[in-house]
Amino acid sequence: MTVEPHVPAGRHARISGWGNYAPRAVLTNADLERMVETSDEWIVSRTGIRERRVAAAHETTASMAAVAGARAIAVAGLDPDEIDLILVATLTPDYWMPSTAALVKEAIGNRRAAAMDIAAACSGFVYGYATAHAYVTSGMASHVLVIGAELLTRFLDYTDRGTCILFGDGAGAVVVSASDEPTGPHGIQLTTEPEGAYMIWLPAGGSKSPPSAETVARGEHFIRMEGRETYRFATKTLASSALAAIERAGLHPDEIDLVIPHQANVRIIEAVAKGLGFPMERIFVNVDRFGNTSAASVPLALAEAVDTGRVRMGDRIVFVAFGAGFTSGAVALEWSADPANGARAAAIDPEAIRVRLPVDWDSVDPIPAQLAAVLAAPGPVDVPLDDVVPDDPAPARATVS
Ligand code: ACO
Repeated sequence: MTVEPHVPAGRHARISGWGNYAPRAVLTNADLERMVETSDEWIVSRTGIRERRVAAAHETTASMAAVAGARAIAVAGLDPDEIDLILVATLTPDYWMPSTAALVKEAIGNRRAAAMDIAAACSGFVYGYATAHAYVTSGMASHVLVIGAELLTRFLDYTDRGTCILFGDGAGAVVVSASDEPTGPHGIQLTTEPEGAYMIWLPAGGSKSPPSAETVARGEHFIRMEGRETYRFATKTLASSALAAIERAGLHPDEIDLVIPHQANVRIIEAVAKGLGFPMERIFVNVDRFGNTSAASVPLALAEAVDTGRVRMGDRIVFVAFGAGFTSGAVALEWSADPANGARAAAIDPEAIRVRLPVDWDSVDPIPAQLAAVLAAPGPVDVPLDDVVPDDPAPARATVS
């Protein structure tokens, strides 16, 4: 095989920036108890979820993605225009077209990047990372922004207790940058098993079943899921994907410092830890506070893990996800960015980032009736960053907002 002349020899890729964003409004298990026949005790014992975030009416997948993306670019110490490619992994895009990535490009002030969306459900961020890695190591791009963002709370049936308790909104991002220096062990594993195609799906709205009064009356615009089958697949594939990525990196599971799994259900995460022979101290969990945010789940958790001191330079980490499709994917890598750079994300004010709206076009109220009261309630109190005591070894950002 001949090597293309434009591919630089010895080109490597590393994560140079990270960031996340979660909307302020919190949907608790007590709120859900008022909507469906469920209980805090059932939800916590079966899923580990205590609360999830809900996007406000003015927020969209693109707006949350843009904030997380702008934070990752700031942490990388880059100008937005240095990004060559923007990838947004999502199953809840703002529109069928244009892509959410195109909206994000404009919102973050980038004029030169290519932009496209990635559809691999909850595994989307891992697929996006793999794509970014290939673009960078092939020489086609120097800096790729990879975002996972979801606004799932507008696609849930609040009469279906098997799904509406699980999902939340949010976004996370990384910048993957070219490096002349070798970046340590690295392995990627991706799989898709279509026999699970209809285990998690959203029946209407696509070309097979275009949206109509009838599809809406049947509730086919909401996420449907076979919980037990999905659970079975998840426990099997998360462990096997993680092990394959670790092996491809030339590492042994004992050498992994932290696993950041898709935050779907704490029981699934515990089963995977057991399968891998890992103590829970080496597994990052935030599903209790955010629920399942699908493609946003891994990058939201990754940024939180770095910002709270759980990832240090030289650590070997694994991130691993599964989702509709059935898709799954895992990455094992050595962390090479200074976690202290996370403090730069504070320069990004979410309120200052705007996704342009169409002229002469009024959208309907996007908020499901059942969530109106939650969104009307006052949000949590924000502690400004300047209240953090200087030299305090506390994380750069204690909470995601
Ligand atoms: N509150 C109370 N009872 C409930 C609830 C609820 N919220 N939901 C279901 N139940 C009931 C069921 O009706 C059933 O009752 P029955 O025995 O009288 O019929 C009983 O609880 C047991 O139901 P199961 O579905 O067997 O419960 P299970 O222990 O499997 O937990 C759950 C359900 C939490 C959904 C679990 O199956 C799961 O987590 N599955 C994986 C889901 C997942 O991770 N999805 C990710 C999707 S990724 C993506 O790409 C979008």
